[in-house]
Amino acid sequence: MDLLVRNAKIVTSSETFESNIGVENGRISSLSPNLQASGAAVFDARGKIVIPGGIDAHTHMELPVMTTSSADDFYHGTVAAACGGITTIVDFVDSQPGQTMLDALADYRRRADEKVVTDYGLHMMFKGQNLPEIDRIPEVVEKGVPSFKVYTAYKKRGLMLDDPDISRVMRKVAAVGGLVAVHAESESIIQDLIRQNLSAGNTSAIFHARSRPAEAEAEAISRVTRLADRARAELYIVHLSSRAGLDEVEAARARGTRVFAETCPHYLVLTDQALEGEDGRNFVMSPALKKREDCEALWEGLRQGGAIETVGSDHCPFTRAEKDWGKDDFTRIPNGVPGTEVIVPLLYSEGVRKGRITIFDMVRVTSEAPARRFGLGPSKGKIAIGADADFVVIDPAKRVRLTADVLHTRIDYSIYDHVTTQGYPVLTVSRGEIVMEDGVFAGKRGRGRFIPRETSGKRSRETG
Ligand code: URP
Ligand code: ZN
Repeated sequence: MDLLVRNAKIVTSSETFESNIGVENGRISSLSPNLQASGAAVFDARGKIVIPGGIDAHTHMELPVMTTSSADDFYHGTVAAACGGITTIVDFVDSQPGQTMLDALADYRRRADEKVVTDYGLHMMFKGQNLPEIDRIPEVVEKGVPSFKVYTAYKKRGLMLDDPDISRVMRKVAAVGGLVAVHAESESIIQDLIRQNLSAGNTSAIFHARSRPAEAEAEAISRVTRLADRARAELYIVHLSSRAGLDEVEAARARGTRVFAETCPHYLVLTDQALEGEDGRNFVMSPALKKREDCEALWEGLRQGGAIETVGSDHCPFTRAEKDWGKDDFTRIPNGVPGTEVIVPLLYSEGVRKGRITIFDMVRVTSEAPARRFGLGPSKGKIAIGADADFVVIDPAKRVRLTADVLHTRIDYSIYDHVTTQGYPVLTVSRGEIVMEDGVFAGKRGRGRFIPRETSGKRSRETG
């Protein structure tokens, strides 16, 4: 045995049980109250809870945006993830001009393999430049990347596809049993409001939010779910931010659309008021932060399960200096905020402790559901004999104020520095190796592995 966790109170999505956890060769080898250490490293988890390692299926490490890249590369971003109890990320491949999807995938694999400290999978961003190679979607799926993200907004950045092209992508992806991820916001509503705001001299950060109201999200979700019905595609709405958007996801599911949504920690905890402050630029991401009632609707959606299945971070931080590019024009602020390190602490402290969700809901949305939905295979997302030894120990008594010096993302501020969590990860184990202990990163650069993912078609054939 390599590692023994004693006195663990293990929580799954449906039960709690007390056990010791034995780890050997990166896997859970035994779950029993009577295990002997026999030379293994020992961690005593008395008084703490142990849950499966978090799966953050939405990150953007070293993503090129404007003339810079998001501040965390695959090393620093996965260090932050590991320090927050995340053991697997799924990032988005963004092909650059002149690169095919397969070139871009190879490039991402090369850069990530050398740096990642957690395991990782990849989604493919499908942009206008990828349309001539739409028939190569099956080859990308064959490489273990069965999900393709399309955008209904960001025309100027070359990300947006028109509806007929979105339908084509949906049909191609559906034909191979893949998943279509959608950044759903109405470009028409947003551009109209941006024009009105800029011409009225409304240039500060809050007008980013006022140009991206909940209706922009709802309109796009209503449209893409209808396109998905026609294409018989399975849809994943990334970063759901509003009650109106959630209503559209629920309405589509009631019609029979195969659609589920992800929300992010910032939409659960922060509101658009944050954009009114002096440092409002640091809170700019898209979709924009909404109202308190939207936060509560998203928590309720998580509690109910179904429409909102997962929490991903959309981790995409920029430095204060980069955010300042937009001090006189909100359209010049690079969009994105950090988040991978705070998923587990915030869901525990703001969700479980405050009674918005149960600990079982938390395990479901942070590990079990994403492992299943994103085809990460039978070894991920659970604490069970034979599964990868990916787990996190949370100390329910540990209070941590989420200041910049505590968090590991490479930016010089924290958007959560007014939040003190009660309950915090104190040990993260990834494939049997301790990668964080007591807030200190303890893993090695490049130790993480690429996880080729399966399509839902393959999963359902295997499960009968
Ligand atoms: O504001 C967001 N969501 N930023 C993430 C990166 C992007 O451009 O989608
Ligand atoms: Zn994103």
